[in-house]
Amino acid sequence: MPVANVDDAIADPHTYADPSAYHQLFRTLRSEDPIRWTEPSACRPFWTVSKHADILDIEKQSDLFANAPRTLLRTREQEEQVRKLTGSVQAVRTLVHMDEPDHRLYRQLTQAWFMPAKLRSLEEGLARLASEFVDRMAAKGSECDFARDIAMWYPLRVIMMILGVPPEDEALMLRLTQEHFGGADPDVNKDGKKDATSAVRGFFEYFKNLTDERRKAPGDDLASLLANAEIDGKPISDFDRSSYYFLIATAGHDTTSSSLSGLLLALLEHPDQLARLRSDPSLIPSAVDEGIRWVTPVKHFFRTSTADCTFRGQKFKNGDSLMLCYWSGNRDEDAFVDPFSFRIDRTPNRHLAFGYGIHLCLGQMLAKMEIRALLKEIVARVGQLELNGKPEWLVTNFVGGLKSLPISYRMN
Ligand code: HEM
Repeated sequence: MPVANVDDAIADPHTYADPSAYHQLFRTLRSEDPIRWTEPSACRPFWTVSKHADILDIEKQSDLFANAPRTLLRTREQEEQVRKLTGSVQAVRTLVHMDEPDHRLYRQLTQAWFMPAKLRSLEEGLARLASEFVDRMAAKGSECDFARDIAMWYPLRVIMMILGVPPEDEALMLRLTQEHFGGADPDVNKDGKKDATSAVRGFFEYFKNLTDERRKAPGDDLASLLANAEIDGKPISDFDRSSYYFLIATAGHDTTSSSLSGLLLALLEHPDQLARLRSDPSLIPSAVDEGIRWVTPVKHFFRTSTADCTFRGQKFKNGDSLMLCYWSGNRDEDAFVDPFSFRIDRTPNRHLAFGYGIHLCLGQMLAKMEIRALLKEIVARVGQLELNGKPEWLVTNFVGGLKSLPISYRMN
């Protein structure tokens, strides 16, 4: 491929909606140009980091490779839209945009909500919810679009329960999240009028009202905690608070939905693995990890070099951007035995789908719990699962996976 096309393909959201095209491109990059200076026509340049060990090493050195200011890939046009509307390169300031010491202080605010002690109290409710969603499959008869009817809604319900958003507002949360992550997808941005900040503005307006309500009547939810959050004895700013809600609301469901749908598709495409899972449900936890590796719903995050340095023979300048390509790292031949095989008993499975280091996904235990609970119900109650149409992937280079997965089945 000519050089310019490779650079454009790395940035192009369509590459990510075609897993075989993506893997072909990144397999070549890993072997021939693992840290590649990339100059796509529509974006500011960056280094594409495609190997597992390199992504890991960069994530470990959070002083040398900071999160601010460039956290993800946007086109120059999108960056300009954000700048015009906010006066800054970022529309929000979340944990993902922060470095130490702020990052640690803000992460501590909500950390306990995602740790085992708190999660254990959710277990029963999750099992009930998983069962209700399989009831929903039963109510649909013998076919459904698993991505649209089940996987998109179940993790949404879970995170909105934790946040304290009432069920009647979930459709709005789903629409805004899809607009945020899938703005490049024609099904999501139908009129082409959504810009890089439309969804953020929608969220901020909603969360402003939620804050007012929770200040008047606090409950046992994250919204109440955030509405009254303080750091060093001072209330956090409205902008930081809305950004925090925004992070929890968006990070908490599309990622998990995409993992669920992608895991189910992988099981349908590997009937021997599905049969094995049915005969030995103790493999559910490792199957969930393998599904998350397989899908890797967060395709990249960026880091910025804070000094001139040499990394794996490449000279990074202070301020250079690095794109950490998690999906590629999770298919790295030097990190996994037979990385293109889907194996529900893969151990060890040191995938990078949740990142690594100080920014390691805060919700990873919750996400795995949710997926395990639903998979357990499906394996126990749904038989004769088959693909019933063409799966479709969201057009996005950031967070996403299947947007449509038609299946047929028979309830046991
Ligand atoms: C399978 C599902 C999920 C995947 C694959 C995933 C992936 C990721 C990744 C790759 C990061 C960045 C890590 C880094 O920079 O090293 C991240 C951060 C984060 N995730 Fe998740 N995530 C998932 C589910 C969730 C859930 C359910 C929540 C619940 C709220 C959540 C909340 C967060 C938060 C708050 C951060 C920022 C952490 C920080 O910067 O300190 N995620 N996630």
